[in-house]
Parts: sequence; C-alpha cells; structure tokens
Amino acid sequence: MTRFETRAVHAGERRARKNGESPNGGGPGKGFYPVSTPVYLSTTFSHEEIEQTDRVLGGEEPGYSYARYGNPTVTAFEDAVAALECGGEPEGARAFAFASGMAAMHAALSAAELGSGGTVLAAEQLYGSTATLLVQVFGTAGVEVRFVDACDLDAVRKKVSEISPRAVVVETISNPLLRVADVPALAEITKEAGSTLIVDATFGTPYLQRPLELGADIVVHSATKYLSGHGDLTAGIVVAGAPYDGALDSLRKLVGGTLGPFEAWLALRGLKTLPLRMERQCENAGEVAGRLAAHPRVGSVNHPSLKAHPDHEVARRVLSGSGGLLSFELAVEDGEDGRAAAFRFLNALELCVTAPSLGDIYTLAIHPATSSHRELSPSRRKRLGVEENLIRVSLGIEHADDVVADLEQALERM
Ligand SMILES: Cc1ncc(COP(=O)(O)O)c(C=O)c1O
Repeated sequence: MTRFETRAVHAGERRARKNGESPNGGGPGKGFYPVSTPVYLSTTFSHEEIEQTDRVLGGEEPGYSYARYGNPTVTAFEDAVAALECGGEPEGARAFAFASGMAAMHAALSAAELGSGGTVLAAEQLYGSTATLLVQVFGTAGVEVRFVDACDLDAVRKKVSEISPRAVVVETISNPLLRVADVPALAEITKEAGSTLIVDATFGTPYLQRPLELGADIVVHSATKYLSGHGDLTAGIVVAGAPYDGALDSLRKLVGGTLGPFEAWLALRGLKTLPLRMERQCENAGEVAGRLAAHPRVGSVNHPSLKAHPDHEVARRVLSGSGGLLSFELAVEDGEDGRAAAFRFLNALELCVTAPSLGDIYTLAIHPATSSHRELSPSRRKRLGVEENLIRVSLGIEHADDVVADLEQALERM
C-alpha cells in the first residue's frame, strides 16, 4: 500500500480510467482523461440503454442515476477519505459524505440504531451541538442520553456495565480543553459490551489517528475543518464498515443530507494537502503553546504537547502529533470580568482572525463560552472548565513567529 501522503494526493482520482471505462464518457476526442475529477453538475445520469438504468437503480450494477443517490465527484471525495482513514482496512469500510458535520453525526448515530430506543453514552467533552443533538433530537425520540468523562476510563467502564449503551460517542481530541480520548482502551470496553464506538475525529484527522484501525466502529468528521482546510465549505463524512454501511447508504438516500458536487470537489482538493497542513499546524500549536505558557498575562495553557497537560502521555501513545489547536486562560484579577477581558483581547488581534471555526489555513481565535459552548448552561460550562476568560486558537499555516507576535501585542493592549 502507498504511504498516507501519496494516498492524500491520488486517492479517489481518475476512477474512470482505473475501471477501464471510457475516460471521457465516449465524447469527442477519445483517449484522454481528466487528471482532477471534474465537478459533475448533473442531477441525473443517463445510460445508453434503459436496462442499464434499471440495473443501476436496482443496485445490481455500480453507477449513477440520480444525484441524491450518488455523484462521481462526491464518490471521488468519499474514496479519498476512506483510503486515508483505513487504507481499505477493515475490510469493506466505506465513506459517506454529507452536507455538514452535524448531518454526518446524525447519520452515524442513526446507523447505530439509536432511533429504536436504547441508551447512548456520550463524552461530556463533546462539541456542544452534538450534545444538544443527542438530547433534543434523539432524547425526544426516546433515546436515553447519559454523559461521562471519557478520559476517566474507570468511570466509562462502570457506566457501560451499568447501562449497556447501544453506542458510545467520543471525540479524538476534545474542544476546547484538548482532552485526548484513549481510543484503543475505549474500543476494548465497547467491544466487550457489544456497544458501537463512534469517534468524532474532526480535531485529530486521519493524519494523527485512524480510529477504525484502533477498534472503533464508526468515524465521523466535520470535513468543514481540517479535511478541506481552507474555510470555504461546509461538509461532513462518516467512515464505517459492516454492519453500518448499508444503513448509512440508505439514510443518505432517504434523509437526503447529501453533499453537493462542488463542495465535494473543493474538499477533495483541500484533502491533498492535509499532511502538509497538519504538520505545520501541529508544529505551530506546539511552538505557540510553549511561548504563551511563559507569558505573564496568560494563565493556564492547554495543548497535549505540554508536559502539564493531563493527557500528555495518552496523546504520545494514541496520536502521531499533538494537534493544531490550543486554548488558554487570560490572567485576570480576582473579580475582573473574564468575558470582557476575552472580548478586549479578541478585538485587539490584527493577524489572527476571530471566527467560530477551526482547521483552516488561517489562524482562528474564538471565545468558546459564547460560541462553541454557547448552548450549554453556565454551570455546565463551568464544570467542563470552559471559563469566561478562556480563548481557543486554531493554528493556521502562517509562520509561528508572526502568530506569536500578534497574540503578544493583543495581550499587551487588552
Ligand atoms: C468536533 C466537531 N464535530 C462536529 C462539528 C459540526 O460540524 P459542521 O459545522 O460541519 O456541521 C463541529 C463544528 O464545529 C465540531 O467542532
């Protein structure tokens, strides 16, 4: 098998040529083929004979008929992500692209058969909207939703044996404190209990960890973030093998949260540089975290590369890098308004962009309490350590010195 970097560049592309089909669809000027998969802006796909349409619609022959069921550009992106997540292993794992990370998570949870009742055990560190999706959508439909500190393996073990959850949901690296899940250990616990382990790998990406190879059952990404990497689209993707792939295929067709071909094309283009971007972003995060930790106007700094981080050792064992995000608390006086200090700091940034996303080539900074964790109650935020003076930074691919200079000038002026 080729290396990760090579697959990132080539996987999914030039399918028609590989399949021995006419590379340009039999049109004028045979004998050439597009190196980059074109954007197939077509709602329907016709065949020479209606019998073939019948076979394609009946699933007896691979092919395309109607865009909600499949589109060649979307397939190219899906094949590329599947090749990066598992390189074809475990046997039969497929990727399914969706219109957003949330649509992908909804499909993953539904594929785990949560819809028919049962219990789900979720990491209390989950992205706020995923927690809300579980409670408001699945909870209302009769699913019992329980939360646990996913970094406390004894607590997970205890809860799993107590409630026998149908699914356990965790994130590779959590937001905004960058806690690292011990996916191999969690997979052992869920396998023993017969539960489905769903890993949201948005922060980790397959460059740092491939959860399916570590025993997880379903991997979910907001491809809006690192996979596409340029902050110019919204997309999600689920990767899973049997017994979940059939359900995911049906869910996408029936619920219809399909990714559009243009977004798929942009995402596929972005994916080619994932290894290069991640390498620089992780390096930048480590460098900036170290320099912020020494700054007098900064309190605690969270990044798994720091020895003081609670998951420093776990990260070294289960990830092949420390991730491109960090968070830190501004040093505030007793009684000082942390939110006001955070807003002053963010308003003073000149290079770093204040925008509620992550994984872009640009360095982005946010105030988690009023963005990613806005939907949670103040007491829940406090319990999770999402303080009012907490800032999250998603490192881009700029020079680390320029990012540090901007953060330092904002700390001076805030
Ligand atoms: C970890 C994580 N999962 C899922 C999502 C949802 O993704 P999207 O915004 O693409 O729907 C996000 C969004 O920030 C996220 O951070």
